[in-house]
Amino acid sequence: MTTSQPGPLAHLPVLYREVLDALNPHAKGRYLDGTLGAGGHAWGILDLSRPDGKLIGLDVDPEALEMATQRLDEFGPRAIILRASYGQIAEILGKEEWSALDGILLDLGASSMQFDRAQRGFSFNKMGPLDMRFDPDGVLNAEMLVNEWPEEDLANVIFRYGEEPRARHVARAIVQARPLENSVQLAEIVARGAKVRRGGMHPATRTFQALRIAVNAELETLQTALPQGIDALRSGGRLAVIAFHSLEDRIVKQFFRTESRDCICPPEQLQCTCDHKAAIKEITRRPIRPDESEIAANPRARSARLRVAEKL
Ligand SMILES: C[S@@+](CC[C@H](N)C(=O)[O-])C[C@H]1O[C@@H](n2cnc3c(N)ncnc32)[C@H](O)[C@@H]1O
Repeated sequence: MTTSQPGPLAHLPVLYREVLDALNPHAKGRYLDGTLGAGGHAWGILDLSRPDGKLIGLDVDPEALEMATQRLDEFGPRAIILRASYGQIAEILGKEEWSALDGILLDLGASSMQFDRAQRGFSFNKMGPLDMRFDPDGVLNAEMLVNEWPEEDLANVIFRYGEEPRARHVARAIVQARPLENSVQLAEIVARGAKVRRGGMHPATRTFQALRIAVNAELETLQTALPQGIDALRSGGRLAVIAFHSLEDRIVKQFFRTESRDCICPPEQLQCTCDHKAAIKEITRRPIRPDESEIAANPRARSARLRVAEKL
């Protein structure tokens, strides 16, 4: 296996070897990376599928696409890089006249590059605008959420997407401090509402996660993408998804459980009436987690969970 990465990656992509083991890229294979980022996983897929495996890589962030384009340059036309959302897998594959894929990867959330760039507004300890959009042309940004949304809607978002027990206090603190102007100010205000530090976690962690999820409609996009991903695979093709928090992971887990069952009638029903047929088998009953050496090299990998399903 030649999987060493060229170029300026600060660390290997999360669960790199595990993703490649799961997708087992090979010559002539057709792959889709729905969250290209800096192209680290995509590089490994293209490397292992030499000489003629192909990959379509999607991202909504032009800065990520620029990095990935440079990284994947050596593969020439074997890499097709497009600015699009992984929520549009079916449409993209239709346009490219691709079907029966061998493998699909979704590595969800923000990249290290995005967290590290203060001007994207993802980080609570870097002075930046209230933005948090993956797609700079997206219609909603964090500024609109924190400065314009009604307190109750804001509290609901922070509670549902951040699982922040003090969501109502945080929303109240934000509304009272309006207008908020930047990420550091927001973090300070949120910390007042959230108060306690849980296990060393910054008190704004949950709220920043919640706002980012809402700004980018992350959970809705994931929900629409999963069935499209399964439809796009050939029999024996694999879908690998890396989630970074329990909300995402729960969606993937429940989808894989449902789609690997022949009947989804309620358990108390004696006769099946649903006509549901299993479409996949789960390769990972339990998610694969990074080992300690990976977490030591890349602390952001700590919360990653990889689930893999194979199309029947
Ligand atoms: C964790 S990073 C992926 C890193 C990548 N696997 C690598 O090896 O460099 C996630 C990427 O998904 C992108 N992204 C977020 N939402 C997206 C969407 N709806 N469609 C496509 N890409 C999206 C982000 O812009 C980010 O670049």
